Amino acid sequence: MRSFQGRDILSLRDVEREEYFRIFAVAEELRPHAESRRNTDLLRHKTLLTAFYQPSTRTRLSTEAAMHRLGGHVLGFSDAKMTRAGDFYQESLKDTARMLEYYGDVIAMRHHQQGAPEETARWSSVPVINCGDGWGEHPTQVLTDLYTIWRERGTLDGLRVLCVGDMRMRTMHSLLYAASQFDMEAMVVAPPDMSLLDDFTAELDERNVTYRAVESVEACIADADVIYVEPVVQADYTQARVEATQERGRTPAAYRVTRELLREKARRDAIILHSLPRMDELPTDVDATRHARYWVEAANGVVLRMALLALVLGAVE
Ligand code: CP
Repeated sequence: MRSFQGRDILSLRDVEREEYFRIFAVAEELRPHAESRRNTDLLRHKTLLTAFYQPSTRTRLSTEAAMHRLGGHVLGFSDAKMTRAGDFYQESLKDTARMLEYYGDVIAMRHHQQGAPEETARWSSVPVINCGDGWGEHPTQVLTDLYTIWRERGTLDGLRVLCVGDMRMRTMHSLLYAASQFDMEAMVVAPPDMSLLDDFTAELDERNVTYRAVESVEACIADADVIYVEPVVQADYTQARVEATQERGRTPAAYRVTRELLREKARRDAIILHSLPRMDELPTDVDATRHARYWVEAANGVVLRMALLALVLGAVE
């Protein structure tokens, strides 16, 4: 298996099956520190730099929390407008990267431009972790999701995963790339204008990913072991920031996962994941059902990112 030390985490395209399980094993080793809320000193000589050009609650804060749990240091920005990249100068990724690499030992980046973390990695001597790039990918989120499925179901093989939402979303891309490494079948439910793009399906076919389009949640929820939900009412991920408008629309019934559907059609042991934030596609009354795992998933986000930081910084092999 390749070492993770010094490795950029930009995409799940190139993560191999046994590497997922190595990350999960390290997460299990480090998990007691998160659960007991007692920081350790594994990364006391290391610094994380967070460069977030787009809003985030979970990804930035859980990555920073992970670094703190491991005794490391954290600095960064969460509003590019307060940097030279976001003002009059519009400083380039290249010039910015050549500064940031001196300030930290690993860079966690979110950007509205697809490929920005990859571009940054080209100019940085320290590892870059993609924390979401435009409509591109969201590797740390999907590693968290897979870790959650693995813990909850005990396996990543032999599973049917219902993916509902906007298939242009970066989480959907990372999830379907990862599916190539497991015995997984994806059932894909999306509005026609948010369906899988042709270039992407060509790539999935090339990678032998098993997926099929289904017209509604209702038509396939009974077959699902995992229900992976994302919004269809959502922001444009190519923008640095999108303000809320009064009229944000409602999610059509075909793309909603409701308590009634779960009661009437879902398998008793099906679990629901959602990377959050949610809109009305996942009503809050689902939270109290046995299917909900999205809060567990959010907590696992800290543990999984602890594992990733420890691996790329060479504190564990
Ligand atoms: N899931 C996720 O990426 O959430 P944030 O946008 O809050 O980071």
